[in-house]
Amino acid sequence: MASDWCELHVHIEGTLEPAMIFDRARANGIELADPDEASLALRYEFRDLQSFLDLYYENMRVLRTEADFYELTAAYLRRAATAGVGHVELFVDPQAHSARGVPAGTVLRGVHRALDTVGAEAGVTGGIIACVVRDQPVASADAMLDDVLGSGVPILGLGLDSAEVGYPPSLFARTFERARDAGLHVVAHAGEEGGPDYVWEALDVLGAERIDHGIRSLEDPALVRRLGSEQIPLTVCPLSNVRLRAVPSIEEHPLPKMLDLGLKVTINSDDPAYFGGYLDDNLEALRDAFGFDPDVFRTLAANSVAASFISGAPARA
Ligand code: HPA
Ligand code: ZN
Repeated sequence: MASDWCELHVHIEGTLEPAMIFDRARANGIELADPDEASLALRYEFRDLQSFLDLYYENMRVLRTEADFYELTAAYLRRAATAGVGHVELFVDPQAHSARGVPAGTVLRGVHRALDTVGAEAGVTGGIIACVVRDQPVASADAMLDDVLGSGVPILGLGLDSAEVGYPPSLFARTFERARDAGLHVVAHAGEEGGPDYVWEALDVLGAERIDHGIRSLEDPALVRRLGSEQIPLTVCPLSNVRLRAVPSIEEHPLPKMLDLGLKVTINSDDPAYFGGYLDDNLEALRDAFGFDPDVFRTLAANSVAASFISGAPARA
């Protein structure tokens, strides 16, 4: 497959495969709750976003050193290259690591070094988007932004992730204003489990240039008109939506409707080690469910390039 896809919504911690969890736990002397991979695998059944996040944060405890983050990112880049990804804008959750005593600089240096070296070997360019963990206090988000900006590692943008409902984007208005003033791009998860009001706030209060997920935008016709007329990119993650029960099945995913409405949608894997696959697996699931012809995939690939921050221009005017 040609490397003509940009992956714009993938959490590096969500690429932590079970084999690497056991490997890193052994290397770092960390005791796991499960005796083996088969036992751990039984826990990859999710009711909703929170039930996934509980396991996601538990598993990432095995990541402690710069080398761990380097190896994690290297493995993702090699796999993404086989999926046709030529460019990635990688989400990282520094607060999830600093809370365990792993400094933001350690995390970012490992990810950045892999993007630089393994990315070049694998033919994948990339950048880092540091995400605010929205169910942690606002002061923690501000401290994270200070740490990230002070790390000396080049950063593409600031994002917003973790438990959505009850944590509206407006809580972090000032943090995102500071990020924009520092020249960072701005994106936000909204409309995954939260309603259209979260998407409006992400756009109007945070100045988000892309919306991550955004599938619940369809409930609000005025929002659909806004997203369409401004061609604001939505980074949609079909297998994630099914596994977290945001949609009942892949066949009932609103992606075809979003395309019909003229929305600028892109396809992404979100947390591929947890949701049944990488970008190519998501594309295959869509092909099987909807029988899309090659033109649709060409549009989706072109959308991903247009929505990326590669050009240096904002994704949204
Ligand atoms: N949604 C919100 N936060 C996340 C996700 C997600 O799908 N994956 C990792 N953090
Ligand atoms: Zn996500």
